Amino acid sequence: MSDHLTQMRRRRTFAIISHPDAGKTTLTEKLLLFGGAIQMAGSVKGRKAARHATSDWMALEKERGISVTSSVMQFPYEDCIVNLLDTPGHADFGEDTYRVLTAVDSALMVIDCAKGVEERTIKLMEVCRLRDTPIMSFINKLDREGRSPIELLDEVESVLKIQCAPITWPIGMGSRLKGVYHLISGEVHLYEPGRNFTRQDSTIFASLDDPGLAERIGADMLRELRDELELVEGASHPFDLDEYLAGRLAPVFFGSAVNNFGVQPLLDFFVAHAPAPQARATTTRQVQPEEEKMSGFVFKIQANMDPMHRDRVAFMRICSGRFEAGMKSFHVRSGKEMKLANALTFMASDREIVAEAYPGDVIGIHNHGTISIGDTFSEGEALSFTGIPNFAPELFRRARLKDPLKMKQLQKGLAQLSEEGATQFFKPLMSNDLILGAVGVLQFDVVAYRLKDEYGVECVFEPITVSTARWIHCRDARKLEEFRDKNATNLAIDAAGELVYLAPSRVNLQLTQERWPDVQFAATREHA
Ligand code: G4P
Repeated sequence: MSDHLTQMRRRRTFAIISHPDAGKTTLTEKLLLFGGAIQMAGSVKGRKAARHATSDWMALEKERGISVTSSVMQFPYEDCIVNLLDTPGHADFGEDTYRVLTAVDSALMVIDCAKGVEERTIKLMEVCRLRDTPIMSFINKLDREGRSPIELLDEVESVLKIQCAPITWPIGMGSRLKGVYHLISGEVHLYEPGRNFTRQDSTIFASLDDPGLAERIGADMLRELRDELELVEGASHPFDLDEYLAGRLAPVFFGSAVNNFGVQPLLDFFVAHAPAPQARATTTRQVQPEEEKMSGFVFKIQANMDPMHRDRVAFMRICSGRFEAGMKSFHVRSGKEMKLANALTFMASDREIVAEAYPGDVIGIHNHGTISIGDTFSEGEALSFTGIPNFAPELFRRARLKDPLKMKQLQKGLAQLSEEGATQFFKPLMSNDLILGAVGVLQFDVVAYRLKDEYGVECVFEPITVSTARWIHCRDARKLEEFRDKNATNLAIDAAGELVYLAPSRVNLQLTQERWPDVQFAATREHA
């Protein structure tokens, strides 16, 4: 088998989805520990803290208790190379999260055993469902009193509409937690607080019949477990690989991330069964990861990673072929060749220059604004990957400068920051206003803060009467011209130069749509 195919099949690219506080960061850290990417528990949080200290913008992030940026962590485990794409945690950053989820092949859902299915998990699950992304679930914080495991599975099934196949089952909970039973291997992994913190795994008994087990957990507990297992095996679904890969059945694991307990069975199962890189749709055809020619799409931009150099890093998922450092590739949108020289890979320990990358991997490309979210790179074919939309913002504000002489910097700052995709920038046809649209209100604070910090511009964002935006398309050029003339006061141009209708109210939007049946009002714009 060619090297490219072998490498591709080793890749497991996924994201963790959860409600804030369920334990995503803690679990990430333990996974990295197993992957040998970090040596000590506490490193991920330590790394976060170090970054906070060096950047004021990060300080804002910390103040708010949220993570604005998402990163990529690669680590080896068994025969696999695992790519973990972090999703931002706060509800305001839905769009960014959405786009990260377009770049993965599967997801891991973390649930707090005391809280069950929470609101943000429901939303993220809806996004996963759009692409039938396979899901595994980790029910966390077993060291605390939580709800009964059966009740939790029932809730996942009824609220998230996905069948559950428990792979591990808890033996007790909270102060009575003794371990987990592996329903497929028959093993029992003991919970030994203190020991499970490290990489070494807990004591494992090969089966429930192991004479030492009753001694360790008590005969009563063992009897209770056997009774419960009978119930579980009758009431839940058995694991079925095809159903999992189709996104209809979630294997479920129980554990305690902070104690590094129950994590290894999850990771072992994950690398064995989670999908390798999948085919991706473009406007013209499906691109298979087995194809020899390199292709990939950009799903995220991060501006000013180094504010001294005003650089932007575009995060590209490789979809086919093999990426090699310094290779020339075709930037489809501009129609130009670009030499991708200093691409970054994201080993959790550090960023380093990437020599090669395969389907499923994510590389970071430095640029000065030429690359946008949704861009495709190929070895010459005019491919355009689909499914990476811009959503119409729901909140709008007008930027008002404190120092009118800084207009140029303001425009530049707004345009560059909106390239990251969390905000959108509009210029009305009939006025000199600069309008910023966002999905969450927090974004305006972040942008104001970063304009000051990174561009030296002080501005405030004032409310305006815009309720929603729609991208305008019309096949009939004359009709479009007429529409433009009649509605100029409500029209604007977005950062990509597209025409947008800024509706003062929902009613106005509806009336305008009725009045102009030949004009299309799109609620999303595919990055083209
Ligand atoms: P998030 O990224 O999903 O937001 O969650 P994070 O990992 O930051 O975890 C949220 C809190 O839950 C943290 O406590 C963390 O220590 C705790 N936690 C995670 N896993 C477990 C677990 O298995 N059992 C228990 N009991 N707690 C768990 P914190 O007090 O907010 O932070 P810290 O001071 O402990 O770091």
